[in-house]
Amino acid sequence: MAILEVKNLTHTYSEGSPFRIDALKGVSASFEKGEIIAVIGHTGSGKSTLLMHLNGLLKPNSGEVLYEGKNIWESKISVKNARFNVGFCFQYPEHQLFESTVEKDIAFGPKNMNLSQEEIKARVKEAAEYAGLKPELLQKSPFDLSGGEKRRAAIAGVMAMKPGVLILDEPTAGLDPKGKTEIIQLIKNYNRHTGSTIIFVTHSMDDAALVADKVLVMSGGEIVMYDTAKRVFSHNKELEELALSVPEITNLFIKLNKKGFDLPLNVFDVNIAKDALLIALRRRAND
Ligand SMILES: Nc1ncnc2c1ncn2[C@@H]1O[C@H](COP(=O)(O)OP(=O)(O)OP(=O)(O)O)[C@@H](O)[C@H]1O
Ligand SMILES: [Mg+2]
Repeated sequence: MAILEVKNLTHTYSEGSPFRIDALKGVSASFEKGEIIAVIGHTGSGKSTLLMHLNGLLKPNSGEVLYEGKNIWESKISVKNARFNVGFCFQYPEHQLFESTVEKDIAFGPKNMNLSQEEIKARVKEAAEYAGLKPELLQKSPFDLSGGEKRRAAIAGVMAMKPGVLILDEPTAGLDPKGKTEIIQLIKNYNRHTGSTIIFVTHSMDDAALVADKVLVMSGGEIVMYDTAKRVFSHNKELEELALSVPEITNLFIKLNKKGFDLPLNVFDVNIAKDALLIALRRRAND
C-alpha cells in the first residue's frame, strides 16, 4: 500500500478575485514507502502547492490526501498527526533557525511532540549524524555555521521528528556545488538507513537522476509524467517542450547520436554511460 496518496486534488488561490489561479487541477498520485521521488517542473507549475497539501499545510478545494489510506482531513487529530508523519522542509529552511544553539534548534520539533528529555537528546544526536553535522557543532550558535551546515541543521530539525515521509522543497537551492553534493548524499544516506519516503523538489535534472527512484513532472497545475527516472528521462523531446532538460550525460548521448554514434538515449547514470560508450567505441573500431 502507498504510504501517501492524493486523489483528484484541486487548489485555487485567490478564489473569486481577478487574480484567481488554479494551481492544482485534479492531481492524483501515490507515493510508495521507502522511495525517493524527485518533483520537477517549470516555475509556477504547482510543485510547492502540491507538496504543501501532503502534510496539511494547505487544504484542498476538492479531492483527498491519504496517509496510510486515511484521509488526513478526517478530524483535527488526523491533521495534527499528518504534520508529524509528513515532515516538511521549506525552501531556504535555514531562515527559520532561531535558537541559541544548533542542538536546541534541532530539538525544537521533537519537543513539540511531548517526548522525554532522553528521547529528544537521542533524536538530536541521530539527526545530526544523518545530516553530517559534527558533534562539536551542536553547541555553536546556528548563525556561526557555514551556509551548507545551516541548511543541514535545518533539515536535521525535521529528521529529528522521525517522519514517515520527508518533504524537501528545493533543498539544494542557492548552495555551492560542494554543498549541493552533500545534500544529495544525505538524502540518499537517510533514505537507505531509515527507509523513509523522501519527496524533493529540484530544478536540477542531474540531482534527480542521481538519487530519485521516480520522477514526477508538473506542468500548469497537472502531473504530466510520473514514472521511473529512466523512463521519464527517455522523453527528452517532451521535457524540452516543457522547457525542462535532461541530465548532462543524457544530453551528451543525444548529441553523440546526432553525430552518428549508436547510443541509447535513456542513460542518465555515469557508470552505465561509460559502459555504453566503450561498447559504441569498440563497435566503431571494428567497423
Ligand atoms: N499564496 C499564493 N497566493 C496566490 N497565488 C499563489 C500563491 N502561491 C502560489 N501561487 C501561484 O500558484 C501557482 C503555483 O505556484 P507554486 O508555488 O506551487 O509553483 P512552483 O512549481 O513551486 O514554482 P517554483 O519553481 O517557482 O517554486 C503559480 O502561478 C503561483 O504564482
Ligand atoms: Mg516552489
